[in-house]
Amino acid sequence: MAKIVLDDVRKKYGTVDAIKGVSLDITDGELVVLVGPSGCGKSTLLRMIAGLESITGGKISIGNRVVNDLEPSERDIAMVFQNYALYPHMTVRENLAYGLKNRNTPKEEIDRRIADAAKALEIGPFLERKPRQLSGGQRQRVAMGRAIVREPAAYLFDEPLSNLDAKLRVQMRVEIKRLQRSLATTSVYVTHDQMEAMTLADRLVVLNGGRIEQVGTPIELYERPATTFVATFIGSPSMNLLAMSAAAGGQWALSHTISLPPDVATLGIRPEDLHLATGAVDDAFRMDVKVAAVELVGAESYVHGTLSDGAPIVFRVAGRSRIAIDEVVPIGAKAPSLHFFDNQGARLM
Ligand SMILES: Nc1ncnc2c1ncn2[C@@H]1O[C@H](COP(=O)(O)OP(=O)(O)OP(=O)(O)O)[C@@H](O)[C@H]1O
Ligand SMILES: [Mg+2]
Repeated sequence: MAKIVLDDVRKKYGTVDAIKGVSLDITDGELVVLVGPSGCGKSTLLRMIAGLESITGGKISIGNRVVNDLEPSERDIAMVFQNYALYPHMTVRENLAYGLKNRNTPKEEIDRRIADAAKALEIGPFLERKPRQLSGGQRQRVAMGRAIVREPAAYLFDEPLSNLDAKLRVQMRVEIKRLQRSLATTSVYVTHDQMEAMTLADRLVVLNGGRIEQVGTPIELYERPATTFVATFIGSPSMNLLAMSAAAGGQWALSHTISLPPDVATLGIRPEDLHLATGAVDDAFRMDVKVAAVELVGAESYVHGTLSDGAPIVFRVAGRSRIAIDEVVPIGAKAPSLHFFDNQGARLM
């Protein structure tokens, strides 16, 4: 077990600045999830921790060792990729045992670790099969098993579930969380999946263009995003952002009881914090929305509409919405759910 410390880590590919100075302390046993748009540097950062990519500047420590110049095999980490890269000519058992045999682990120890991993991941029945005789989800679990049997100081995951169907993803997500809790092994996990990020992470790191935009618990990032970038990146559907200049045009109104911070340029409201405002009087925010589309997503519906100046807005209603297309409906929000940003996109208050 080990903490991982990144100190002003940088990566240049030729003239491309892929990582522009990232500093992050990952505590022992913590699961940190990296999120951010495609190309923001998530895989690069993970591969630098693993030692698969050289670093252009800064320092990486695992445990109490600076690992900048250590080979991947000397770093005591296990990595799980999206394309699980199992050895096709070996059985599942041989795939799991391979790394351990190379380290001269005693046979009884190998058998014990394989039995433990097989039980946790429910791959016991496939141990004597070759990878091609398995489904995608089963292969993914074997890849996970190969990392687990190593009992490394840290796990690195790069979108390990992205090839799985929705049901299996949920199942594996719960399983990873349970395993990580019981093994208490420091982990860095990259995903595109909001639910995966929110539910797995002890802390979330939002990357944007090779820099850290914000670090915090999922709930901190959701409730107090530091920037409009984080505000729109965390949460689905995205937070609505409204230009303050539109208020002057009568597009929407804030209660006079709200004391606006100076320099406020943008108002943010999450779709789930908006409600149909038929009668409610203590709303801090009011607007009329012309409905363009309604999406029913099971227990709730998302209503997509526009303000009279054409600005898009999304709000949630519980259950099946009865709202008709082209109808104009009043919606509102309470004061605590309002977010204010300046013209640089930085949070105010
Ligand atoms: N070997 C390479 N040579 C040159 N540029 C690279 C190389 N690998 C990555 N890059 C660039 O570095 C940046 C970060 O890439 P990276 O793969 O880390 O992104 P990512 O956040 O993992 O994206 P995705 O979500 O699409 O997987 C991108 O602009 C990419 O084009
Ligand atoms: Mg990537």
